[in-house]
This record gives sequence, structure tokens and C-alpha cells, in this order.
Amino acid sequence: MKTIIVFGSFVGNTETMAGYIREGLRQEGIECEMRDVMDVNAELLNDFDLLILGSPTYEPKMIQEDMLPFYDQLASMKLSGRRGAAFGPGDSAWPDFCTAVEMLEERMRECGIEMLIESHMVDGIVEEHEDETLDWARRLARAALKG
Ligand SMILES: Cc1cc2nc3c(=O)[nH]c(=O)nc-3n(C[C@H](O)[C@H](O)[C@H](O)COP(=O)(O)O)c2cc1C
Repeated sequence: MKTIIVFGSFVGNTETMAGYIREGLRQEGIECEMRDVMDVNAELLNDFDLLILGSPTYEPKMIQEDMLPFYDQLASMKLSGRRGAAFGPGDSAWPDFCTAVEMLEERMRECGIEMLIESHMVDGIVEEHEDETLDWARRLARAALKG
């Protein structure tokens, strides 16, 4: 199963989460590519079966700036037959917690991607949520391997 994690990250927290997710998948036998959204074109997703996308939230109901071209490109893509999941860090001290993750999830569904499990949103310091992020990734891997 060809698997990719694409993340946008301004300060590095989403990238840290992506690393935990890669490790959780690996523990269940799934190797994956991990790419910064700044370095890829969304067309790349056509080459993968399992698509895991991550974004932080910096403005209520807005995708992080780095992610915008990729997010806009997704709007015209058909990715049916692919499966996926979304994730991202946020901070509940802000009024709109992790809304970029919700937007990403919605856009993925619009492309025809089957979402395998609930989106994973982490509140505050991502390192304090390493275990639950690993756990989420292992659950995602098991759901993907189940068929
Ligand atoms: C100026 C600013 C605005 C933010 N706004 C939100 C927000 O509206 N909702 C939210 O859940 N988190 C918000 N956050 C928290 C970030 O999403 C969080 O720090 C995240 O871990 C950053 O990820 P990154 O290191 O990958 O860029 C905000 C943080 C900053 C600095």
C-alpha cells in the first residue's frame, strides 16, 4: 500500500506529529513517504493509495498559508479509490480549535477519498501527545490493512 503523509507546518509542530504518525504506521508494517507541502504538487497524491494530510490552524476557518496552493489544487482533483485521514495541532485557547483540520477533512471527502478514521487533533504541546498520536496512527494502519 503506497502511503504518503503531507504536512504544512509553520513552527514545526505539525511536522513533529507527522513523524510520530510515520512511526506508528511503521510499527504496524506500513512504510510511508513524508513530505512538506511546500515541496509538492497535489498531483503527486495520484500515485498513492493511503493519503494522510496535516495542517495547523492559525486563523479561524482558514487553511495555513503554506498549505493554500495545495488545498486549492485539491478542489479540482478526483481521488476516489484512495483512502485517508487528516490531522493537526491547535490550541483550544483560541476560539476556533483546529478548524483547518476540519476543512482539510471536508476537502478530502469532496475529492472522493474515503476517510478511514476520525481526524486527529491535538491541543497544546504536541510532544505531550506523542503516545496518543502513535496510537491513532496504529489504529489508522490497522483500518487500512483490514481492507
Ligand atoms: C497567531 C496564532 C494564531 C493561532 N490560532 C489558532 C486557532 O485559531 N485555532 C487553533 O486551534 N490554534 C491556533 N493556534 C495554535 C497553532 O495552531 C499551534 O501552535 C500549532 O501547534 C502550530 O503548528 P505548527 O508548529 O505546525 O505551525 C494559533 C497560534 C498562533 C501563534
